[in-house]
Amino acid sequence: MDAPPDIVDRVARLRDDIAFHQHCYYVLDDPVIPDTEFDRLFQQLIELERLYPSLIVSDSPTQRVGAKPVSEFRNAQHSLPMLSLENAFDEEQVVSFDRRVRDRLGNSGVVSYSAEPKLDGIAISIRYQQGELVLAATRGDGMTGEDVTHNVRTIGAVPLRLRDAPYPEDLEVRGEIFMPKSGFEELNERARAAGEKTFANPRNAAAGSLRQLDPKVTAGRPLSMFVYAANVVDAGQLPACHSQTLLKLRDWGFKLPTENAVVEGVEGCIAFYNKVRALRDELPYDIDGVVYKVDDYELQSIIGNVSRAPRWAIAHKFPAQEELTLVNAIEFQIGRTGAVTPVARLEPVSVGGVTVSNATLHNIDELHRKDVRVGDTVSVRRAGDVIPEVVSVLKERRRKGARIVRLPSKCPICGSDVIQTEGEAIARCSGGLTCNAQMKETLKHFVSRRALDVEGLGSKLIDQLVERGLVKNPADLFGLNQAKLQSLDRMGEKSADNLVNALNASKETTLARFLYGLGIREVGEATAMNLANHFRDLNVLMKASAEELQEVSDVGPIVAQHVSGFFHQSHNRAVIQQLVKKRGIHWPKPEVSIESGTPISGKTFVLTGTLIGMTRSEAKERIQSRGGKVAAAVSSKTDYVVFGKNPGSKIDKAQNLGIKTIDEDGFSDLLNR
Ligand code: IVH
Repeated sequence: MDAPPDIVDRVARLRDDIAFHQHCYYVLDDPVIPDTEFDRLFQQLIELERLYPSLIVSDSPTQRVGAKPVSEFRNAQHSLPMLSLENAFDEEQVVSFDRRVRDRLGNSGVVSYSAEPKLDGIAISIRYQQGELVLAATRGDGMTGEDVTHNVRTIGAVPLRLRDAPYPEDLEVRGEIFMPKSGFEELNERARAAGEKTFANPRNAAAGSLRQLDPKVTAGRPLSMFVYAANVVDAGQLPACHSQTLLKLRDWGFKLPTENAVVEGVEGCIAFYNKVRALRDELPYDIDGVVYKVDDYELQSIIGNVSRAPRWAIAHKFPAQEELTLVNAIEFQIGRTGAVTPVARLEPVSVGGVTVSNATLHNIDELHRKDVRVGDTVSVRRAGDVIPEVVSVLKERRRKGARIVRLPSKCPICGSDVIQTEGEAIARCSGGLTCNAQMKETLKHFVSRRALDVEGLGSKLIDQLVERGLVKNPADLFGLNQAKLQSLDRMGEKSADNLVNALNASKETTLARFLYGLGIREVGEATAMNLANHFRDLNVLMKASAEELQEVSDVGPIVAQHVSGFFHQSHNRAVIQQLVKKRGIHWPKPEVSIESGTPISGKTFVLTGTLIGMTRSEAKERIQSRGGKVAAAVSSKTDYVVFGKNPGSKIDKAQNLGIKTIDEDGFSDLLNR
């Protein structure tokens, strides 16, 4: 059946809208509508294409995942060879690179360079004909790569059609496919929980995800792409310099690293290197250095190439984030919920500029799967804030007598049985709060910033308090006085005073913080908040049945089980009684959420920029406790955008949509009204 004209229009509009929102989400990292709204648009398009299959075109957003897996990877010839880069490992090598460049140009002046992070992923070449993606190929040997079009199409940051004409009719775009660090951690976490093999690092995960015959598998992996070059294969022209081409690529719909810059001369290069290196751990993706490229294409062609690499560009590498070292011992640490985590004690080694002497092995199954033994040479990896981990063992270096370590049957701290439930990767100490290790972690969580927020009560102090038997449960903390505290190492009169005051100050809290601080399994900040808003009264919550608990938003059977199980234990009830009755922990009753008459209830807020008088999470808490909602993105459903210092683009969006924007003072007024 031929589609009526209004349907043809509707489908075209939906496709434009969806492509726009995918671009906002995947390329700009700045969604303008909530996910549910996006899903609604997508469903509408799927439905219309189902009713009118003749309307389906290959660059429709519904066609990112092709129907069938391919049977093999075909070869793909590159229109221009994909070169590699020469490396510099120190400043001196960069200085001589710059000197060679200027010599070739017969130039004693300063050269402009495009300076970019060197992304640690997989090189890709993507061909666009008449603006439509027709081929994506890996680097291969530089001349011929593998056709991975079916997989690259599934990556949200890759446009299926170029935006913003004009563009060259036959364009080849080059870039790097990578997996963001957070996506990599989640993927490995899931694999670990399922007892499957994990990826060694985000690069391997990206490579493994790209080399799939079935595009559905790739579509489920959190891949992204940055572009770093383009060539015209036929008809059309690029700007006169590389940095301008990159900006064009951005207009055509691609994602660029925000760190990219044009710098002047070798000084500019080194300053860029230092700046990006300082940022490295915070970046959401792995980089292994920076790249400097002579910016002017004319100059590039004068300088030319050697066989496989351009003479006008160089990679300035960072120290590696993976190093080899020896395992001196394997010990077991007990976490807050009793989880037994094997930890490798290592011969100290500098990894990416930081000394590493411990690395996690995650859980006992992982330890056995990787087959790590005491005395082994292992590869350890650190990146950003995540705990360093043992990636793999160099089996060929294994010495005779390397010792296998097994899961202890008794907790090394308290001697209780260690239990591993069938089908679970995690083994746990069954000692509960009689185990000093679990008690220490419980206390640390209870006083942490997002829970009771006791200032100055650090981890070392808690260790001492527990080891000396001064604190046996969270309620005991509030029984500490000057005299008891001063008996501790490195505790003067003044610090003891401050701590007593901080403990007193923390007694005034919120029900949500208190619940979160109890450390009930699966109850994070958001769940604690939902529980507090729903029940509003601790006693009512403590008596709630599993069914009643499941009436709370985002609480399913497992969370409900953990919550009711926690409150059923007489030990937990006794500690809560003590905290509230004897020690005077208190909170205001959470306000009724659907209360009419408060200017907040039923309204949706979006926060942007830095607030001075409160943290983001406090602002969120206050809105929610008054029956309001907090959304991540501005949409037509937003009622207020609250802006602090250095607000993001959300404020412009709000103004475009005619949504009310208020500053922090205005927000405080609203809260207090
Ligand atoms: S330009 C002719 N720019 O590094 C220049 N490459 O060692 C070719 N890479 O295969 C590459 N970030 O996969 C360039 N900003 C960047 C890059 C980059 C990462 C990778 C790329 C290339 C390899 C060369």
